[in-house]
Amino acid sequence: MTVSQKIALITGSSSGIGLLTAVELARGGYRVVATMRDLSRRSRLDEAAERAGVAGKLDIRLLDVTEFDAIPGLVEAVARDHGRIDVLVNNAGFAMAGFAEDMRLAEIRQQFETNFFAHVAITKAVLPVMRRQRAGHIIMVSSISGRVGQPVLSSYCSSKFALEGWSEALRIETFSLGIRVVLVEPGAFGTDIWQRNAKVGEDALRDDSPNRQRGARFAEMAKKLHKADAIVVARLIARIADDPNPKLRYRIGFDAHLQRWLRALLPWRAYEKLVAKAVKID
Ligand SMILES: NC(=O)c1ccc[n+]([C@@H]2O[C@H](COP(=O)([O-])OP(=O)(O)OC[C@H]3O[C@@H](n4cnc5c(N)ncnc54)[C@H](OP(=O)(O)O)[C@@H]3O)[C@@H](O)[C@H]2O)c1
Repeated sequence: MTVSQKIALITGSSSGIGLLTAVELARGGYRVVATMRDLSRRSRLDEAAERAGVAGKLDIRLLDVTEFDAIPGLVEAVARDHGRIDVLVNNAGFAMAGFAEDMRLAEIRQQFETNFFAHVAITKAVLPVMRRQRAGHIIMVSSISGRVGQPVLSSYCSSKFALEGWSEALRIETFSLGIRVVLVEPGAFGTDIWQRNAKVGEDALRDDSPNRQRGARFAEMAKKLHKADAIVVARLIARIADDPNPKLRYRIGFDAHLQRWLRALLPWRAYEKLVAKAVKID
């Protein structure tokens, strides 16, 4: 490690945006502490890093972000072993679908544990390190679903809305310390979130759910939705990491821009009809 080497810490690096970001940051010269909850799934990252010629820049460590007691120890160990943490990418997350009426409270809590409270816990552990440095970037992988309520994804959206509000406040609190909090808001990108990691509420899957038919139509629509290549999200995150003065929010993906424009331009009554029709639940 050279003295000037910058250190990045990422959660959820075993697939998708986290994996691609780990490689992009390593290509950009960072030493990357890439965490994942199951080290037996590290081969995809190892192979991608090998192909990019940056395998030596990765330090892969175990972290289930909902193991809250393990977070301070992991962050301490990273700061001790690497001397600093310049960039934190809070990326680990998943989406649970189901009409709000069918979602169990425990399932909604599980969404918040991963998509909100884990980001809060890791950020709190990293803040003293960045405060000492009087510098650091905290990049939250939020979603367009953190800005626009999406039917059948109320649990996911509310966890991301919470993250947006918390981050907006944190940005102002930490700005004078030299810390930059940034929200990245992707639209639909082709990652495991749509397949291996896609979750549906248990009651939403029951034959006697009052929303069964509409839920099935939504699922068909979601399957057919165009999903862009997630590499552009990883490249955006790498650019933000290198920007000494990044904005608060970065929206990415044609669909994400379209949704925000429609939401801002259309009167609500027209907007809600359009969305219900588009996602096949009208
Ligand atoms: N792809 C999109 O369309 C999209 C759009 C907007 C926002 N996002 C956001 O992008 C982020 C990354 O998602 P992705 O699209 O790249 O999906 P992905 O391929 O499913 O990646 C999610 C990553 O999070 C990890 N993860 C989930 N729960 C975890 C936990 N408790 N502890 C540690 N790691 C955990 C997964 O680990 P395992 O491999 O062990 O499952 C995986 O590495 C998420 O925050 C998501 O909300 C994605």
